[in-house]
Amino acid sequence: MNSCVTGLQWGDEGKGKVVDVLAEQSDVVVRYAGGANAGHTVVIEDNKFSLHLLPSGVVRSGITCVIANGVVLDAGEVIEEIEKLKKENIDLVGRLLISENAHVVMDYHKLEDQLRENALGKNKIGTTIRGIGPCYADKIGRSYAIRVSDLLYPDKLKEKLDKIIAYKNKMFAGLYSAEPIDTGKIYQSCLEHGKKLKPFITDTTEFLHSAIDSGKSVLFEGAQGALLDIDHGTFPFVTSSNASSLGMSSGCGVPARYVDKFIGVVKAYTTRVGGGPFPTEQDNEIGQRIRERGNEYGTTTGRPRRCGWFDAVAASYSARIGSIDEIALLHLDTLSGFEELKICTAYEIDGKRVEFFPANSEKLFRAKCVYKTVEGWSDDLTNITNFEDLPKQAKNYVKTVEQATSRPVKIIGVGPGREQTIYR
Ligand code: GDP
Ligand code: IMO
Ligand code: MG
Repeated sequence: MNSCVTGLQWGDEGKGKVVDVLAEQSDVVVRYAGGANAGHTVVIEDNKFSLHLLPSGVVRSGITCVIANGVVLDAGEVIEEIEKLKKENIDLVGRLLISENAHVVMDYHKLEDQLRENALGKNKIGTTIRGIGPCYADKIGRSYAIRVSDLLYPDKLKEKLDKIIAYKNKMFAGLYSAEPIDTGKIYQSCLEHGKKLKPFITDTTEFLHSAIDSGKSVLFEGAQGALLDIDHGTFPFVTSSNASSLGMSSGCGVPARYVDKFIGVVKAYTTRVGGGPFPTEQDNEIGQRIRERGNEYGTTTGRPRRCGWFDAVAASYSARIGSIDEIALLHLDTLSGFEELKICTAYEIDGKRVEFFPANSEKLFRAKCVYKTVEGWSDDLTNITNFEDLPKQAKNYVKTVEQATSRPVKIIGVGPGREQTIYR
């Protein structure tokens, strides 16, 4: 049984938690897109792990973890994560595989990300400044890209870096009057990263196919969310990869038909970090209350997340493009204490009712929400482990989400911990 877990909103839906609970039944967990812009949280008793590049299966022993070709790898960051886990007695040698064909996020990508955002001023995207856009741009552009395998060949690497950094320095000086960057320092850190990562670097596509052939259970872990997908999200306020489950096949070389179940993760409300349209946003006391109750501050950047009501128009669209079989609905506990709750079931754009989410930011900025209002509940849900034990209003809320998205809700989160999970 192979499954794929992806976010159906604008990221931070709780994918880390869902992957961690499902990993118990898996042999292999694969990250296939994005980079250290992701922040996936796994909470095990009092221990909180914030993972940016390592798949969320790492905290369970016996699972092989794969960082596939579609990821953009910040080598320094992944080494830091590996070393941090080692201090917790989690040794990844022999059970972490990194694709030789993944692209490397270099310091000049992060600099470019920062310079570009600064230059955009109020029109900035609000990126995580992790160099994601510039690295994917160099991958698509081909001529100035560094892949993980390049870190293992010092002479070739030096040749490539000399060419790339000369080009980048001209660009940084011309466009941003920035100081030149030093090739020597970057080259030295690449060599060091190559040495440290060598035991993990391999052909992950070959590994995944042989794992599937031998009947291993593979769990594919998406990063970001479908609404941040470069092609199908709220462009240009998106990330630079195919963050919906559509990116899974190209991101790891395994066709979607090998996946038995696509699981879409949503929060019981909606959040987004950075700029861009957000029709159900509650930039008011309601949003503030959700933010404080749900601790909605970014795992990667610490930025306060924008909060709003559950948007079933957006989630249904993400479920459709993502081939989603079932939904994991997290943070139901966060909604305790509201007298009434709203779910957006349609938009009104330019006087017309719209039920199919338009992946077009200009239209979305003009969208007014049509809401269905349901009764709230005041009970604390954080210790409930059976669906039947939920207050009737909470059960009704879950059923309303199911109706509005035409997908069954099979997993419900009532807290960050592993055990704070209801299965249906
Ligand atoms: P991801 O990027 O999709 O993995 O999500 P993040 O880890 O960035 O953000 C989700 C946050 O919500 C984390 O702090 C989780 O520990 C927390 N969390 C996950 N599920 C639940 C839940 O059901 N209830 C509550 N209260 N917190 C949750
Ligand atoms: P996880 O995997 C939430 C957002 C950024 C910004 C936009 C572009 O934890 O759900 P980028 O740095 O990718 O160029 O930024 O995308 N973004 C995320 N928002 N969760 C994430 O990842 C995100 N990764 C990127 O805030 O709006
Ligand atoms: Mg996150």
